[in-house]
Amino acid sequence: MAKKISLNLHSISSIILLSIIPLTIPTLFLLHTYSPTSICTPLSSHRRPWSGDLRAADFPWNRLDFTAHTPPPISLRIAVFSRKWPTTTAPGGMERHAQTLHKALARRGHRVHIFTSPTDETKSPPPPPMSPILHWHDGDPNVWQHNKAYAQFVAENRSDPFDVVHTESVSLHHSLAARLPNLAVSWHGIAFESVQSSIYQDLARNPSEPMSNDFNRSIHVAIPKVLEEIRFFAKYAHHVAISNSCGEMLRDVYQIPSKRVHVIVNGVDEDEFTHDPKLGQQFRSKVGVPGNATLVLGTAGRLVRDKGHPLLYEAFAKLKTNNPNIYLIVAGSGPWQSRYKKLGPQVIVLGSMDPAQLRGFYNSIDVFVNPTLRPQGLDLTMMEGMMCGTPFMASRFPSIKGTIMVDDEFGFMFSPNVESLYEALELVAAEGAERLVERGAAGRVYAETMFNARKMALAYERLFLCIKNESFCMYPV
Ligand SMILES: *[C@@H]1O[C@H](CO)[C@@H](O)[C@H](O)[C@H]1NC(C)=O
Ligand SMILES: *[C@@H]1O[C@H](CO)[C@@H](O)[C@H](O)[C@H]1NC(C)=O
Ligand SMILES: *[C@@H]1O[C@H](CO)[C@@H](O)[C@H](O)[C@H]1NC(C)=O
Ligand SMILES: *[C@@H]1O[C@H](CO)[C@@H](O)[C@H](O)[C@H]1NC(C)=O
Repeated sequence: MAKKISLNLHSISSIILLSIIPLTIPTLFLLHTYSPTSICTPLSSHRRPWSGDLRAADFPWNRLDFTAHTPPPISLRIAVFSRKWPTTTAPGGMERHAQTLHKALARRGHRVHIFTSPTDETKSPPPPPMSPILHWHDGDPNVWQHNKAYAQFVAENRSDPFDVVHTESVSLHHSLAARLPNLAVSWHGIAFESVQSSIYQDLARNPSEPMSNDFNRSIHVAIPKVLEEIRFFAKYAHHVAISNSCGEMLRDVYQIPSKRVHVIVNGVDEDEFTHDPKLGQQFRSKVGVPGNATLVLGTAGRLVRDKGHPLLYEAFAKLKTNNPNIYLIVAGSGPWQSRYKKLGPQVIVLGSMDPAQLRGFYNSIDVFVNPTLRPQGLDLTMMEGMMCGTPFMASRFPSIKGTIMVDDEFGFMFSPNVESLYEALELVAAEGAERLVERGAAGRVYAETMFNARKMALAYERLFLCIKNESFCMYPV
């Protein structure tokens, strides 16, 4: 009963809203326009823009404007260590990051050399002159051998020395990294975050279900792994954290001197993920969302247990019983795909998608749900959705809270358990699709300034310049 009333009140208020829209649009726009420097931290829109030594900045460099130097003041020779270099269409997050970043730097005229493991298709056509130059070490396909890659790097460095070295996570082992004062490492998830991950995953286990042996083993090695990392991380000269919370852990728990920790958030391709309501409507009818749907939720990514799909499965099963017009679109593949199919016609299960299809997907849904149980790194899906103007609901993790959900307006957070997720879903259902459009618009303004791949590449470029020559560490130049 109470619910009916609130829904009616809501539709009345949307009628009122509609009738006063001509007046409110400019105000709403002002309220929801975020300048990249107005959110939390030392920066505020009424103060002067931030300036100083970038190495002292503890906020994401993505907030700053690095467009002043176009083209870059000097062309750098950059060596990159990456266990894998993507050749398939569906690479993992870390490989995608490496590729997006280094292709962008090569386009800006830097001479990028990638040291990576051989693939099955090592005989692919030679890259065009501006692309990064690939060096596959010899050996079995997809087996990374850092010593071989390092030997190739040393030979290449002898003929023409590199200005800066970049390693994706521990691709370059710390014993070798320790020799390189001009090195930066990007961390896409650290052991301290895995400890939290273990906690959330075990709490999500059904009490009647035994703990798996693999999981039990992983718990026993978790703390020793953190200790080991704290002991060897300091050997890497410069650290890039991909979220504010990871930066904090590196400074506070791993005890890396602040001036060697830099936060640069991963970016997504701003041309691939754009706001396009018409495309969204087409996608809806193509996948068969009925016209009477009042709300469409969506989730995407690997459909596995540690991404929290057991939670969403159960919470949505409960939600759909008293909300017959709410739909869930599931994009991606994995063991939970077949289970979602059992939930009946209110769940539309699609397979994996390429970026073009994903753009349609994000534009078609009213809200994106990320029930992940893994706080390591930062899922790109939420940023992709935000760039398309889609608000999101996500597990209350420090990485998400501190870097993406920096304003309540952007969406909803829940604890990673069924009850909390279900409560959040009911809140979203009561709020309705019109309000979600406003939230999505606010999030998009923020995402466009913070999560675009071009800004990420410019921030890395500046870090590499600063490693090469301290005079580039000052901002603005
Ligand atoms: C790369 O070359 C420079 C210039 O010759 C040299 O100083 C540096 O030690 C070399 N680095 C490595 C790892 O060989
Ligand atoms: C986990 O493994 C340890 C020993 O390796 C064993 O003693 C313990 O009973 C296991 N715990 C569970 C919940 O399976
Ligand atoms: C919504 O539309 C679908 C297909 O047109 C229909 O099967 C379903 O019964 C409708 N749901 C409600 C609650 O009216
Ligand atoms: C660093 O850059 C500044 C300004 O471009 C230049 O004057 C200086 O010579 C450079 N220093 C080195 C060591 O290259």
